[in-house]
Amino acid sequence: GKPVVILGIETSCDETSASVIRDGREILSNVVSSQIEIHKRFGGVVPEVASRRHVENVNGVVEEALTQAGVTLDDLSAVGVTYGPGLVGALLVGVAWAKGLCFAKGIPMIGVQHIAGHIYANFLSGGMEPPLLALVVSGGHTEIVHMPAHGEFEFLGRTRDDAAGEAYDKVARAMGLPYPGGPVVDRLAQEGNPEAYPFPRAWIDDESMDFSFSGLKSAVLNTMHNAEQRGEEWKQADIAASFQAAVVEVLVEKTVRAVRKTGVRNVVVAGGVAANRGLRAALQKRAELEGFGVHFPSLDLCTDNAAMIAAAAFPMYEAGRFHDLDLNAVASLSL
Ligand code: KG4
Ligand code: ZN
Repeated sequence: GKPVVILGIETSCDETSASVIRDGREILSNVVSSQIEIHKRFGGVVPEVASRRHVENVNGVVEEALTQAGVTLDDLSAVGVTYGPGLVGALLVGVAWAKGLCFAKGIPMIGVQHIAGHIYANFLSGGMEPPLLALVVSGGHTEIVHMPAHGEFEFLGRTRDDAAGEAYDKVARAMGLPYPGGPVVDRLAQEGNPEAYPFPRAWIDDESMDFSFSGLKSAVLNTMHNAEQRGEEWKQADIAASFQAAVVEVLVEKTVRAVRKTGVRNVVVAGGVAANRGLRAALQKRAELEGFGVHFPSLDLCTDNAAMIAAAAFPMYEAGRFHDLDLNAVASLSL
């Protein structure tokens, strides 16, 4: 039959992105316009600045995505757009744009939950079919999700305080490193000694699949502060490596618990921290030992992008699950 061509739009945080996907799997284009250089000056994302930039960028980014894909608006089967969670002003830019286009062209609009999008990034690089477990690790989220079928999600564990990416960003900021800190700390960690500092691991209790990273973050900050008080030097690379070892050990261990508890033996990893080299190596190694499957998105699809949003919209398109044009952005939308 006729191919299904979905335009994805993502504006939930600091990337304006548009992508064209054919039949749910084939990326025809994926344009990401990052605002990181702008937000760096403030050490984090400034919501008003983000919305404004999305307004300025969205037209050009969509046009570029269509051009690169070699399609026109008339070729589109549907538009998939992130409508939460995220910064409400930022989300609204994408949602309003999608509404206008769907109304003008008379094509369906599909609202996509951002975290579902991150999970679906795995299906763009030969990921596995449900039932799956998803380890979601981004700047705003850290959770283990059971996905029995497409579009069905069940929480097994979540962070009780900071998200993993947030802990990376806060530790990096305290070390005087630029935003976003995750990639920089990851790079530094490769050169450091992961056993230099015995930072705490929050297991909570033997069974729990919940996470806590605020104690770890405080321990890292205290270690640097105390060293400075004593006039001692601390090595950036050793702090980074020891911090990363603590984060990765907890993420891997809790994932293994989830596999054992549910008997679901396929794991996908989702969100910006899925790009982390330490996590990729450690989880892959552990999965081999335990005999379960693990899949990561390709590196460029770990952080925010519209390809994952279009990919998540595809099974909804197939199921005829469309949204009305009165769809609203929801800042705290859950899976
Ligand atoms: O998924 P994402 O692009 O945005 C959210 O939805 O939150 O994730 C961004 C987060 C940031 O906290 C960033 O520091 C972190 O992902 N991150 C990393 C790496 N690359 C991005 N954290 C650790 N190691 C990395 N290589
Ligand atoms: Zn994200």
